[in-house]
Amino acid sequence: MLKSIILAAGKGTRMKSETPKVLHEIFNKPLLGYVIEGVNDTGLADENIVIVGHQAEKVEEYIEANYKNAKTVLQSPQLGTGHAVSMALPLLNDYDGEVIILCGDTPLITSETIKDFVEFHRQEKADLTVMSAIFDNPTNYGRIIRNSDGSLNSIVEEKDATAEQKRVNEVNAGIYCLNWSKIKPAFKDLKTNNAQGEYYLTDIVKWAGGKSLKTMAYTLKNNEEIFGINSKANLAEASKLLNKRIVKKHLDNGVTIIDPDTTWISPETEIEPDTIIYPSCYIEGKNKIGKNCKIGPFAHLRGDVVLEDNVKIGNFVEVKKTTIKSNTNACHLTYLGDSEIGSNVNIGAGTITANYNPLTKVKSKTIIKDNAKIGSNSVLVAPVTIEEGANVGAVGVITKNIPAWALAITRSPLKIIEGWVRGK
Ligand code: UD1
Ligand code: CA
Repeated sequence: MLKSIILAAGKGTRMKSETPKVLHEIFNKPLLGYVIEGVNDTGLADENIVIVGHQAEKVEEYIEANYKNAKTVLQSPQLGTGHAVSMALPLLNDYDGEVIILCGDTPLITSETIKDFVEFHRQEKADLTVMSAIFDNPTNYGRIIRNSDGSLNSIVEEKDATAEQKRVNEVNAGIYCLNWSKIKPAFKDLKTNNAQGEYYLTDIVKWAGGKSLKTMAYTLKNNEEIFGINSKANLAEASKLLNKRIVKKHLDNGVTIIDPDTTWISPETEIEPDTIIYPSCYIEGKNKIGKNCKIGPFAHLRGDVVLEDNVKIGNFVEVKKTTIKSNTNACHLTYLGDSEIGSNVNIGAGTITANYNPLTKVKSKTIIKDNAKIGSNSVLVAPVTIEEGANVGAVGVITKNIPAWALAITRSPLKIIEGWVRGK
């Protein structure tokens, strides 16, 4: 059995925000969500305990609304990482399994690494395993201090480290795996006699060594995974790093992405091979994109978009909550929202599905059946259906259903007055 404790009580002063740090988002998902899902996706853990403090109500609300296997525990005041974990003691009084401890502000941690870490802990039959990382310039991290035989001795915080200890480039990544009942007594023994006057979680390493319990360090392979968010600049960088991973995955799967640097693809988007994504596209939310589609340049998919094969979504086209069947084109300057669009449909430049009534706040559906053609600059006022093969003339304002194979024209006839300009 495995449970996680996720530390998320800290203030995050440098975010300069009214929003708690761990609720800042990458692709519409809070940082904390990435950590919880990272744990859940291992399939190893049955419960997540999130330690909340600063703006606790907002974090509690988020957890309650989104994660059934997570609960929150309040830490107030915040007296350090060791104190934070000790808040979970009453909850885990009779618990006799493993606990992994992580931070809520490191969204790039992967479930593969967490799984590997726990497997290492189990294989080594350790009582306490710390995740370490090797940095060329390890400023601010706690240093991993090893005995002369290479075994783990302790972790020393930078503020408490000697000059020699500061030169150690193996650092504490801030992720731990504990055999709970063995390590639990440590929390009552933690002291605040250190440079920051805090209860340090890191002191459990020395404590466990003193009790002849087996302590191990697992070295992280990709340092990016513990990239922590402390500022808006960090948030932007983490978003880029996450996006880079996603873009690489799609490239590896056979998707053509012309410019990875300006292409944003959310983690929940699936794309089949031989689709081409042109530069400067923003794809957010959950989407499913088929084979041989062409997206962009400058397209915005906002989620719940399903594109079958050979669909073209061109420049300045925004699509939301819409299904588009194969061989349909919407090549320029269009908004398609809450729509169902058939195959072999042509959506002319500047077409808008008017899906939202701002007075009633009701959103309605637009249905366009196979082989329909929508003339440029048309507005389809939802709810509305364009039946199979129907044509809408350019600048159509469509407020009624159009029957199959009909032509709908709503513009006034063109009038030409010969010589009118000369007469002036
Ligand atoms: C901590 C480690 C350090 C490690 C680093 C990795 C300690 C003493 N030091 O340092 O060895 O290299 O993480 O990132 O643990 N938090 C609470 N309640 C508190 C204090 C902190 O919930 O009372 C949370 C914070 O919100 C944060 C996490 O714990 O998510 C880490 O706290 P932080 O103060 O950032 O620890 P570091 O000083 O970075
Ligand atoms: Ca600190």
